[in-house]
Amino acid sequence: MLIRHENLIDNPDLERNAIYSVVATAFGRESEARLVNELRSSGAAVLSLVAEVEHKIVAHIMFSRAYVQDIPILALAPVATLPEYRHKGIASELIRKGIEESYNNKEIIITVLGNEFYKKFGFEESCKVGLFCPYDFPSENFLTLFLISSFRNKIQGTVTYPSEFDRL
Ligand SMILES: CC(C)(COP(=O)(O)OP(=O)(O)OC[C@H]1O[C@@H](n2cnc3c(N)ncnc32)[C@H](O)[C@@H]1OP(=O)(O)O)[C@@H](O)C(=O)NCCC(=O)NCCS
Repeated sequence: MLIRHENLIDNPDLERNAIYSVVATAFGRESEARLVNELRSSGAAVLSLVAEVEHKIVAHIMFSRAYVQDIPILALAPVATLPEYRHKGIASELIRKGIEESYNNKEIIITVLGNEFYKKFGFEESCKVGLFCPYDFPSENFLTLFLISSFRNKIQGTVTYPSEFDRL
């Protein structure tokens, strides 16, 4: 398996369509695939990674720009693996790689709307560190990872997601 950045230079339509198809197939609907396109078009997308198996894109993850007050942070969503490639650790590898790159890029925080699964990567319940979800979502499912631990408990408030998420 190869994990790489999406490549919209060599064959942009092919790449965009392949990612769209993976995300739509994984979710069984098109809303999240459209969200990926919209985040890319608006410039909110910060990091878009794909997993390839035998030169075929089988999974995708996106991180986009969110804010707490005026402080830039990252929102992880969506992550998608084609059904026939699941339970092989592919999404986990995409998440790990995304966290590593974000750390190297000096990002401070990643938030995600998710479940227990994210705790193995270091995510914790956001409300415990004073970060809150703008959407009506159970607080235990709004998770945060501090990439720069000295900021823990120092950046607090409600997270502003890119407006594209409001339409989901
Ligand atoms: C969730 C998903 C991305 C996991 O992909 P994957 O490549 O199989 O993930 P991994 O192999 O790394 O991890 C496997 C385990 O973690 C869970 N998991 C992985 N990523 C997850 C995520 N983002 N949210 C919830 N659970 C997740 C899986 O259910 C799985 O559990 P199991 O193997 O013990 O049954 C995939 O099932 C999928 O595309 N689902 C539809 C889209 C979706 O719900 N995305 C998450 C919300 S954005």
